[in-house]
Amino acid sequence: MHFLVTAGPTREPLDPVRYLSNRSSGKMGYAIAGAARRAGHAVTLVSGPVSLPAPEGVQVVSVTTGQEMLMAVQENLPGVDVAIFAAAVADYRPAVIAPEKIKKSPGNWTLELEPVTDILGSVREGGFQGYLVGFAAETSHLLENARGKLQRKGCNLVVANDVSQPGTGFDAPENEITLLFADGRVNSLPRAPKTELAEILVGVLLEDMIPSGS
Ligand code: CTP
Repeated sequence: MHFLVTAGPTREPLDPVRYLSNRSSGKMGYAIAGAARRAGHAVTLVSGPVSLPAPEGVQVVSVTTGQEMLMAVQENLPGVDVAIFAAAVADYRPAVIAPEKIKKSPGNWTLELEPVTDILGSVREGGFQGYLVGFAAETSHLLENARGKLQRKGCNLVVANDVSQPGTGFDAPENEITLLFADGRVNSLPRAPKTELAEILVGVLLEDMIPSGS
């Protein structure tokens, strides 16, 4: 099968030296890409700026902004069976990118932001019919918010994690995740290294796609 995985943060430039971004390290997405490859699948990894080595045998497409990630996903999605959106895409970007470094001046500075296209939220409308996995990083109402994302974005599975827990989530080697399936099943996995969770996730989603015995 062919997997496409998005990973890492995006960077949204403000001027030639500044950008808006977030704390994503890309570890979860890279672990998933590696696990899918080791399970024998072709993997395209669309990655924001991270400091991780490419998993062996995985085709990496490097991008910087959310718009570039959107274009790379659209370009690489045809023929994909499983698309997993683990990237922490910036929800907003500066409405204007200054061509020169913005100089400081007295007083406050108000920055105008405009929305970045929801990449995961756009792929069903674009005709993608494969198995679709989204991530939901939440600080409250974990299951309720994750279920909303699953329905709004047309996912088969949402991987939810509570990013308010110390030692898990953004930039941590470990994670504690809950899997929510489109048919209403919920499966909470105990805290474990992201590499281990990635192996479990790949196994579970393939089982959900092709139930054993069929
Ligand atoms: N995502 C994406 N493109 C974006 C924003 C998010 O592909 N521009 C994907 C993420 O990779 C993740 C999922 O959507 O799989 C969750 O995104 P999130 O921003 O948390 O969802 P929202 O519906 O925007 O909700 P929130 O209000 O929590 O920001």
